[in-house]
Formats: sequence, C-alpha cells, structure tokens
Amino acid sequence: MRQDIERILFSEEQLQNRIAELGAELTRDYRDKNPIFVGVLKGCFIFMADLLRSVDVYCTMDFMAVSSYGDGTTTTGAVKINKDLSRDIAGRHVIIVEDILDSGITLAYLKRYLSVRNPASIRIVTLLDKPARRRADIKADYAGFEVEDAFVVGYGLDYAEEYRNLPYIGVLKSEIYSK
Ligand code: IMP
Ligand code: MG
Repeated sequence: MRQDIERILFSEEQLQNRIAELGAELTRDYRDKNPIFVGVLKGCFIFMADLLRSVDVYCTMDFMAVSSYGDGTTTTGAVKINKDLSRDIAGRHVIIVEDILDSGITLAYLKRYLSVRNPASIRIVTLLDKPARRRADIKADYAGFEVEDAFVVGYGLDYAEEYRNLPYIGVLKSEIYSK
C-alpha cells in the first residue's frame, strides 16, 4: 500500500500537533454551549476520533453519511444522503466535521440541508482545505491544513475506499488512478 504514495504531506506527529490546536480552539469557543459534532462519514472517522479527544467541553456527537464522488477523483456535483442524523438539532450549536473541503459542493449542500432544522448555529471544521478547487461559496470556520491541488489519501481519506487506514496523509501516485 505504501508504495502507492508519492510523498507524505503530513506525518502522524504533524497531524496530532495541529489537531490538538484545533481542539483547544473549539474548547475555548464552545465552553457552556453543549455543541453537537456532526461527522461526515466515512472520511471523518479518524480525524473526529482524535479531534474530540482534545475537546474539553460537554458535547454530543452524531454522524451523517453522504456520497458525491463515485470511485473517481473529482466530484460528480450531486450529493446523496445515505444516512441522516439520529436526533433533532433544533436549538443546538452544530459543528460539522469533515476530512477535506474540496469543491465545497458537499458542505454547501449539507449546511443548507441542516440549517432548515433551526439549529442555534452551524460551523464547519475540516482537517484539510483545498481552496484551489472551490466551486461553491463556502468557507471552513476551522481548518487544519491547506493543501495544494493534488489527490491525497490516508488518515480517513480514500481513493475508491482504500488507503483510509494509512496513519499519515500522502499524495497518491497518479498512475494509481489513471490506470
Ligand atoms: P467536495 O464536495 O468537492 O468539497 O468534496 C468533499 C469530499 O470529496 C470529501 O469529503 C472527500 O470525501 C472527497 N475528496 C475531495 N478531495 C479529496 C482528496 O484529495 N482525497 C480524497 N478524497 C477527497
Ligand atoms: Mg471520499
């Protein structure tokens, strides 16, 4: 698996250090707000597990599953909800947890989709931000790292459902997805 990675962008240590900083920011901003963290499956699963262990406030968690990609490396532009929230979010401070903000189509859609349920607020925390490819008018409120326009995998991010279990984030060799 590791021979498919062209280069490592963020090591385990870099990820942990930055995530601890994000956790401290969220702890400061959400004290006494009892936020609900909404993870966007499946890409969020490792980031969310690490991030939430460095957030020291009373909070709850829920998950949604959406798909927009198929097995390619660019968005199809259409977002499908495969799993919705299990509880009401009316009056709650919602924090959406994403692996990567790319075209922004997924998060723009999700934010609109959840805002009609009357939450007190909605913010977005993303581990990676790829601003070069933005197509929807959306920004992350908290972002771990900005990334160049390359297809990255690992630490939850996949290519065709594989590579999520790499402990770091790396650039996938282009020959893998062009074959
Ligand atoms: P967006 O709707 O284009 O912003 O895409 C968001 C979703 O696309 C993310 O949640 C990822 O699942 C996927 N995605 C976008 N860029 C990458 C990448 O470089 N590697 C792996 N998945 C990606
Ligand atoms: Mg994906």
